[in-house]
Amino acid sequence: MTAEPRSVNSRAWERYGSHRLRAGTTARPIPDTIAWGFGSAGPGTAVLGPLTGRRVLELGCGTGRYAAHLACHHHAHVTGVESSPAQYERAVAAYGAVPNLTLVRADAVDYLQQAGPFDVIISVHGALCFTPPALLLPGVFQALRPGGLLAASVLHTNYLGEGPLQVVAPSPQRLQVTGHAPDTVYRWVLTPDLWRQLLAEHGLIVTAIDRIDATAENDPTSCRLIRATHGRRDQR
Ligand SMILES: C[S@@+](CC[C@H](N)C(=O)[O-])C[C@H]1O[C@@H](n2cnc3c(N)ncnc32)[C@H](O)[C@@H]1O
Repeated sequence: MTAEPRSVNSRAWERYGSHRLRAGTTARPIPDTIAWGFGSAGPGTAVLGPLTGRRVLELGCGTGRYAAHLACHHHAHVTGVESSPAQYERAVAAYGAVPNLTLVRADAVDYLQQAGPFDVIISVHGALCFTPPALLLPGVFQALRPGGLLAASVLHTNYLGEGPLQVVAPSPQRLQVTGHAPDTVYRWVLTPDLWRQLLAEHGLIVTAIDRIDATAENDPTSCRLIRATHGRRDQR
């Protein structure tokens, strides 16, 4: 069950990135904040605390826009990890020259085994929700310094209003690609209680879960921004 969603996701994100590359990658401005929701920023970058000089890792950085934001506007030392070659190519083309930003093409599960320690790890609808938690979370614990912060946005209800699962399993979700038929990706869309439990099992203590609803009228899409701190090993 776990291998199949990962390969479906890899192929879908590669198709997505390739479509976008063919459409022409244009250098875009670095965003002013992190939008944790869909069509809604939520609490922005402030939730990450002071970032100057901090080591920050983004898991599944896509085009690298938020990694570039943290390096450029907050003077953090940022690494963005992206598994799709096409998405990575887009990131390098757009933000490869940003000081204090390192872009790495790797699967987050593999990268976390040999990286760190980081003060902050973020996932903005990134690897955390597209990867089996049992594979990813041990690496997050290992790569985060004690007391360090994990901040991850995840889907809670999709555009149809379909809600989170109470079991640890991926669900198929639509991936919209402009000018093409929608693709399918597997996301872990779980209840906040289940995320809290899963993270605690991996030494990550949830401190806050923010609700971020879509702002468009009649759009039931809702996200959650989960913040957790790296606990000591004897708290696991
Ligand atoms: C929805 S995009 C988000 C990109 C970026 N965080 C943003 O908000 O602009 C998800 C990205 O995560 C990447 N991804 C998914 N699973 C990953 C994994 N296990 N390791 C590295 N990247 C991953 C995908 O290839 C895709 O580019």
